[in-house]
Amino acid sequence: MNENAPATFQLPEQMSTLAPQVDWIYYFIFWLSVVMFVGIVSAMVFFAWKYRERPGHKAEPTGHNMTLEIGWTIAPVFVLVFMFHKGFEGYLNLSVAPANSMIVKVNAKQWAWEFVYPNGGSSDELHVPVHQPIKLVMDSADVIHSFYVPALRVKRDVVPGMFSMVWFEATHVGHDDIFCAEYCGGRSTGPGGTELPYAPSDDPLHPYIAGQATGHWSMHSMLYVESKEDFDKFLKSIGDPCDAYVNAGKDCPLKVAADQGAKLAQSKGCVACHTTTGARLVGPSWKGIFGKQESTDKGGVSVDEAYIKESILDPNAKIVTGYQGVMPTFRGQISDAELDEITAYIKSLKD
Ligand code: CUA
Repeated sequence: MNENAPATFQLPEQMSTLAPQVDWIYYFIFWLSVVMFVGIVSAMVFFAWKYRERPGHKAEPTGHNMTLEIGWTIAPVFVLVFMFHKGFEGYLNLSVAPANSMIVKVNAKQWAWEFVYPNGGSSDELHVPVHQPIKLVMDSADVIHSFYVPALRVKRDVVPGMFSMVWFEATHVGHDDIFCAEYCGGRSTGPGGTELPYAPSDDPLHPYIAGQATGHWSMHSMLYVESKEDFDKFLKSIGDPCDAYVNAGKDCPLKVAADQGAKLAQSKGCVACHTTTGARLVGPSWKGIFGKQESTDKGGVSVDEAYIKESILDPNAKIVTGYQGVMPTFRGQISDAELDEITAYIKSLKD
């Protein structure tokens, strides 16, 4: 069922759960502006006619009307506070992703989008399942870009050196454009400073020759909202991040690191307290632990790279509920590279 509105003259189709709220405040401000404009211009025209210069009439100053002054100051304040409240509420809703969101990493660069899915596969077009909250964790490799999908009513800047986040839940199967909404440069010269041709092509959809002159305007991609089955098929097709290496007859760096981590787990004695089978020893089993939400004596944590590293270097920082803080620190006994390898190993121990 599609409970959302189709495209109108002013606004594109609604495709997300947030869209009706955004459109409501848009139309509220639009119609308020129409009413104010018509009212003010009508009064202006009427008074201009009523008090026009005529023979036998002398202009009289009207003086000050305190009640009127206060009235037309206070009344708009209520309207403005209401608009701010509605706008801020929408901003918060857009910023706080539900706990069951699927995380998709977004990498922006001059001039392309890359989307990385939970299974490690990636694509240059965004595929998502319908009726599933999607949290985008976005980062830029160079300059400021802005992720924008009109039908979702989602737009957020992607800034180098930090992660920005935004979420959405698509309400029906379909597709829409992904634009970059921040001017992020362009290139019109090639190697050696040669002028690249902006030659018109015969294809009306691609009026300039692609891959020669590129820039902000070419940073376009597509969003595909799919059924759960189609999305699963898509995920399978982009497969394991190791596939590309294996197909090229090379060793997958992730696999190499994980194998190295498995050896370290033995030599450093991790396995004395942590099993990889799901069974409980002194510490939590590593099986399927990566990506899990755990409660600790310092509150909830999500088991990610940062938490694993912290737990190795500073084991008592956040102790998982139900366990004793008896693990010694490995600070000074383990290199950064070894930390990465142990983390890669833990990541590979899926449920
Ligand atoms: Cu990226 Cu404009």
